[in-house]
Amino acid sequence: MILVTGGAGFIGANFILDWLRNGGDAVVNLDKLTYAGNAENLAALEGDSRYRFVCGDICDPALLQHLLAELQPQAIVHFAAESHVDRSIFGPGEFIRTNIEGTFTLLETARAHWGTLSATGREQFRFLHVSTDEVYGSLAPEDPPFTETTPYQPNSPYSASKASSDHLVRAYHHTYGLPTVTTNCSNNYGPYQFPEKLIPLVISNALAGKPLPIYGDGMNVRDWLYVGDHCAAIRSVLAGGRLGETYNIGGWNEMPNLTIVRTICTLLDELRPDAAGPHERLINFVKDRPGHDRRYAIDARKIERELGWRPAETFATGIAKTVRWYLDHAEWVAHIQSGAYREWVDKNYGQRQ
Ligand code: NAD
Ligand code: TYD
Repeated sequence: MILVTGGAGFIGANFILDWLRNGGDAVVNLDKLTYAGNAENLAALEGDSRYRFVCGDICDPALLQHLLAELQPQAIVHFAAESHVDRSIFGPGEFIRTNIEGTFTLLETARAHWGTLSATGREQFRFLHVSTDEVYGSLAPEDPPFTETTPYQPNSPYSASKASSDHLVRAYHHTYGLPTVTTNCSNNYGPYQFPEKLIPLVISNALAGKPLPIYGDGMNVRDWLYVGDHCAAIRSVLAGGRLGETYNIGGWNEMPNLTIVRTICTLLDELRPDAAGPHERLINFVKDRPGHDRRYAIDARKIERELGWRPAETFATGIAKTVRWYLDHAEWVAHIQSGAYREWVDKNYGQRQ
């Protein structure tokens, strides 16, 4: 079996569903169920003997020791993190705790557990750390995309905390020989993404006739990847990634935010026309995010060359699937928006008007 952390969040939930659909081993999902964790994402697995949920914190060493001894997992796939840049600007503390201390606690307990295994068990064990392209900092328009050797230059409390966790993972391989692999992926989009991130926020606001907030001039560039392609890349790194290595994952799909928002508006005009007029009328330029990185872009040639992974979706197919998913899951969005989400919207957007 494998132990997944943070599997009730956006990418983790997609990964677990995808892993079991592809005939993977049993999964235990350790998740603290923060505001971003939603057990509903895995409702389809209720009663499935291959899946078990454990509610708990990756900063809890006793729980981790107990779980590893009981489960004897072949791999740990580590997604659990605080993941939203804007929240890290308002309150970096939780990012330091979960992303740095949590990863450290997981590494420490994994190292102790790994030391108790047989030679074969030690050889087969994997610690896969899921990270982000944001650790590399911001690119100028003419810069080449990030490669695995681009120096780290994190600019937000979120990216700095992820960079720290990447360094810890690297050190645990280098110093103790723990069999780690790290993935650095670009911006994901797709089903189950919490509507605080750009794409699901724009879809749900547009459907509700609310303003579509665009930070600054809307020309910040991200390299968007459909979440199912990220999950497939993680599976291939788990199966064939070289120990101690890092793999960049991206969609070769750089786009400015304004283009993303306009594409969503056009799709909604076709699928859910609004009598009040085209959805683009809702676009609203607001005060920029402090320290806003201008451009991210990933050079994914290493994973393509070594592991034969390539994205299956284009942006056109991925975004159409995503918009349809949100249209078909209005109840899922409504549940999220009924809770503390409103306070977040007031806090983040109230001061931008
Ligand atoms: P998310 O915020 O949707 O989910 C995070 C999950 O971790 C939630 O279920 C939450 O309950 C859980 N969690 C948080 N703190 C925890 C703790 N202390 N103990 C146990 N569980 C805890 O995040 P996501 O977008 O699914 O991202 C998953 C991972 O992928 C993160 O490590 C993130 O840095 C990385 N990543 C995300 C993107 C992206 O575009 N979303 C891109 C590249 C990498
Ligand atoms: P986001 O989804 O928060 O991901 P990240 O900051 O990790 O890249 O934001 C994607 C881009 O969209 C980023 O350049 C910030 C911008 N953005 C807006 O313009 N408006 C918004 O309301 C949000 C949430 C993001």
